[in-house]
Amino acid sequence: MLDKKVSELLNNQINKEFYSAYLYLDFSNYYYDQGLDGFGNWFKIQAQEERDHAMLFIQYMQNNGEKIELGAVDKPSVTLSGAKSVLEETLKHEQYVTSLIHTIYDAAYSVKDFRTMQFLDWFVKEQGEEENNADNLIKRFELFGDDPKSLYMLDNELGARVYAAPSLVL
Ligand code: FEO
Repeated sequence: MLDKKVSELLNNQINKEFYSAYLYLDFSNYYYDQGLDGFGNWFKIQAQEERDHAMLFIQYMQNNGEKIELGAVDKPSVTLSGAKSVLEETLKHEQYVTSLIHTIYDAAYSVKDFRTMQFLDWFVKEQGEEENNADNLIKRFELFGDDPKSLYMLDNELGARVYAAPSLVL
C-alpha cells in the first residue's frame, strides 16, 4: 500500500499524461493541416510516448495494489497561432509536467517512499530530455523556419522519427 497522498498524485498523473497525449495529437493535427507533415509525425510519436507514460503510471499503481480511478480527459485548451508558437507551448507544457513529477517526488520523499522515488527517477530524467527536445526545436525553428528550403529539410528530418517503446519496464 502506498501513502494516500502519493497514491492520489500518481493516479492524477495518469490523467495528466493522457492529456499530454491528447494535446500533442492536437499539435500533430495542426501541423498536418499546415502541410508540415514531418512536424505532424514528430508530434504524433510524442503523443504515443505520452500514452506510454500514462500506462507506466497505471502499471506502477497496479504493481503496488492501488485502486485506479480514471477521469475524463480535457479538450486541448491551447490556442495555436503559428508553427513556432506550437513549439513554445510544448516547452511550456513540459515544464509544467516536470513540476507535477517533482510534486509527486516531494510527497514520496516526505514519507520515505523510496520505491516510488526510484520509479519516478526515470521520469525526472525523461522530463529533462523532453524539455531539451522542445527547446532545441524552438532554436532550430528560429534558425531555419523563415527559409522555405531549410524548413523543408527540417520537416523531412522530423518526418523520419520513429516510435520506440519506453526504456522503463515495470
Ligand atoms: Fe509525459 Fe512529455 O511528459
